[in-house]
Amino acid sequence: MEQYVIKGGNPLVGDVVIGGAKNAALGILAAAIMADEFVTVTNLPDVKDVNILLEAISETGAAVVRDERHTVRLNGKTIGSCVVDNSYVKKMRASYYLLGALLGKYHHAEVALPGGCNIGSRPIDLHLKGFRALGATVSIEHGMINTSADELVGNHIFLDTVSVGATINIMLAACMAEGKTVIENAAKEPHIVDVANFLNSMGANIKGAGTDKIRMTGVTSLHASEYSIIPDQIEAGTFMVAAAATRGDVLIKNVIPKHLEAISVKLMEIGATVEEFDDAIRVTSDHRLGHTQIKTLPYPGFPTDMQPQIATLLALSDGTSIVTESIFENRFKYVDELSRMGASIKVEGGNVAIIEGVEGFTGAAISAPDLRAGAALVVAALVAEGYSTVDCIHYIERGYECFEDKLAALGGYIEKIPVDDERAVQKFKLKVG
Ligand code: EPZ
Repeated sequence: MEQYVIKGGNPLVGDVVIGGAKNAALGILAAAIMADEFVTVTNLPDVKDVNILLEAISETGAAVVRDERHTVRLNGKTIGSCVVDNSYVKKMRASYYLLGALLGKYHHAEVALPGGCNIGSRPIDLHLKGFRALGATVSIEHGMINTSADELVGNHIFLDTVSVGATINIMLAACMAEGKTVIENAAKEPHIVDVANFLNSMGANIKGAGTDKIRMTGVTSLHASEYSIIPDQIEAGTFMVAAAATRGDVLIKNVIPKHLEAISVKLMEIGATVEEFDDAIRVTSDHRLGHTQIKTLPYPGFPTDMQPQIATLLALSDGTSIVTESIFENRFKYVDELSRMGASIKVEGGNVAIIEGVEGFTGAAISAPDLRAGAALVVAALVAEGYSTVDCIHYIERGYECFEDKLAALGGYIEKIPVDDERAVQKFKLKVG
């Protein structure tokens, strides 16, 4: 097991390059096996969630050729099994995208039912409602979702809740169904558009992705394609907040500024400077920032995956801020960890955080409770006076590639060391002083 050791107080300054979007990659890799020809995916983020999904795909018998760290070629021609067992789904929930892909292509799939996770119960009833609407039978036996259909026929599907996963999984299941499918109240995230664009590059017929009404006409087969994944909106947002929190000056490269608007607007509202370029964004701050109100919403609203990061910044800002988490029911577990560093945050009713800004944090031994909260705690430690250790960093490595290297390259005092290795901590302290 490994941990980060961090010395706070150094502003982040310089350039950082953002990788491919994890949450687009997961849907795209599942879609890729629907062709019986080699599909090449580039700008692939080399993160744990992606690598686990590639292992699950390989287990089906599909060809998986990792040409290099950020490129993979996939071919579904050799798939021999439509079963994805619990070992993968337990490690990475979005393995359930293989349900939609295998059902859509082979009219059969068996994938373990994903449990909840650290941020909420995370049901998948809407995914299954969509499969049934297309004519599939769905049963849950011995912890496995078993779905099959004699044929899949397009239908008009209304999502009761805006759901990224259900929108993607239904697109996968419907893209080769007979006739037309409409997904109403669809999620509009950039990664939805990326998965739809990728499927269209393989010969699918999908219109309206990025709006709340996606219209599809099923095709009989999908073909080879070469596709580059969009930049990761949340990795970019995390570095934007880190730049502002450390009172630094960071040029964040390989981004789509439009995808970051909700974050940019809020950072400017509290007093940071945000400068947009074609494929980059520069965030600077040289003073203590102000307070604001945030409510997480589906895109284009403020992303729930940026909630812990912005709350951490507001915990250091002047005045009282309110952060309302409207997507997940348990996404404030990091507050206890921030309190150990001196934050003054009160969570009311489970989904509203009342944040009294404090002058500064002091370093502490803290634990990452989940992926995005872990990234937020690293930002907190980079600002805190003194030394911190952050453990359970395997959560962070699920969604951030070379996180500590990118932060260190910007001047952050951070290293990855074995857990409980006191000698390594002392060595780090001697090195950074
Ligand atoms: C995706 O999760 C992302 N994960 C999450 O990012 C992200 O937080 C979330 O979308 C919201 O943007 C991936 O893309 C792999 P949802 P997903 O379905 O698809 C409820 C990260 O940090 N719901 O949009 O699971 C659900 O409980 C991760 O990268 C149902 O009720 O999220 C939630 O309240 C964390 N029934 C709301 O909808 C369903 O069938 C939104 O969830 C499905 C969802």
